[in-house]
Amino acid sequence: MSTAPFEVVVPGDKSITHRALMLAALAEGESQLAGLLPAQDPGSTVAVLRALGADVPDLPGDGSAIRVRGGGLNGLRPPATSLDCGNSGTTARLMLGVLAGYSFEATLTGDASLCSRPMQRVTGPLSHMGAEFRELGEPGRLPLAIRGGTLRPIRWASPTASAQVKSAILLAGLTGTVAAEVVEPQLSRDHTERMLRAMGATVASAPTEAGWSARLEPPTRLEPLDLRVPGDFSSAAFFLALAALAPAGALRLPGVGTNPGRTAMLDVLRRMGAHVELEDAGERAGEPVAALLATPARLRATDVGADELPRLVDEVPILAALAARAEGESRFTGAAELRVKETDRITAMVDNLRAIGADAEELEDGLVVRGSERPLRGDVATWGDHRIAMAFGVLGALPGNEIRLDDPACVAVSFPGFWETLRAAAAALAS
Ligand code: S3P
Repeated sequence: MSTAPFEVVVPGDKSITHRALMLAALAEGESQLAGLLPAQDPGSTVAVLRALGADVPDLPGDGSAIRVRGGGLNGLRPPATSLDCGNSGTTARLMLGVLAGYSFEATLTGDASLCSRPMQRVTGPLSHMGAEFRELGEPGRLPLAIRGGTLRPIRWASPTASAQVKSAILLAGLTGTVAAEVVEPQLSRDHTERMLRAMGATVASAPTEAGWSARLEPPTRLEPLDLRVPGDFSSAAFFLALAALAPAGALRLPGVGTNPGRTAMLDVLRRMGAHVELEDAGERAGEPVAALLATPARLRATDVGADELPRLVDEVPILAALAARAEGESRFTGAAELRVKETDRITAMVDNLRAIGADAEELEDGLVVRGSERPLRGDVATWGDHRIAMAFGVLGALPGNEIRLDDPACVAVSFPGFWETLRAAAAALAS
């Protein structure tokens, strides 16, 4: 007789949490937000919004609801200190967009990883709209001072499909009350567009000859938001992988966000022969959600290219880890963006896979992984990157493997409680 699947409730979606906090602070009236991700990255957004005078409570550890009294599109105030975005690229890039519509000066900074990441991709279009920047560190990097104000409308052709770039421009249009259109080569995650619509704004989204366009008609006000944030698909991804590689059993992940801009990993998993089913499909404030049911399978190698990349950009580390256990050679290409994430995730995955005895090779724009069944043992350098830590955590939780991480605590950026949840799920899948 088969037993019921082990249930894993993943924490709230990080991308949606950042946006819900920012847009609730800019709405007119009181938003009610539940299921927000209580992790370090959203904590950075809370701290930055508070420093700008917004009335945002602490993020409850249990996902219970908070109320945010919005100050309106012009409600933010000049900060008394510099704005520390910690490790969070989404906080930095989206807040640069928000601040572009304000005429005061604000300085954004972050940790060493964030201060090494490219900001020119947002300062470029925002300068074009009329915002001014002073570079206080390396060229095109944080710390940066921004002074916005009267903006011009924009139609920006973004060379990469990046939701952070697209969102920064749309948010500048919002606070600067000018029309803003972004054309990207492929559709990146569209949480900003969906949430703005749920708050009464007009955002058109359509395919064009050059890729995909999102266009904001600037509203005069935003309605408050009533939202229970879906579980984060990018956190669920680690448990889908664990279930696929486990010896027995089944995992069920209820209430996970299934925005098509995030779920290309499901297509890749199916190509690899994994078993994942969706149940109880629903919608929350324009965002699709479902329960994911995953069971073990024999995996075969696959190729992942540029066309799928924006829809699984955060899942490459765990897919590369899965590929180390799939039969044959898997190739990830068109993935150069991974070199400018929290760390260079291409080098980090290849070096660490080799360090535990797997067969991996670095490409300029990706990696090649050849699967095997040999025990994976060794020491992993996370470089403080939460997704590198969790990817190797999954491999380390499987019978026969022995993997030590230099900094397991770095998962706190996106998934507090990851190690406890992983231990419980791995134990449930052991027999
Ligand atoms: C995010 C967009 C993606 C993703 C990041 C979160 C967002 O970054 O990798 O984890 O919330 O908009 P890019 O826009 O740089 O691709």
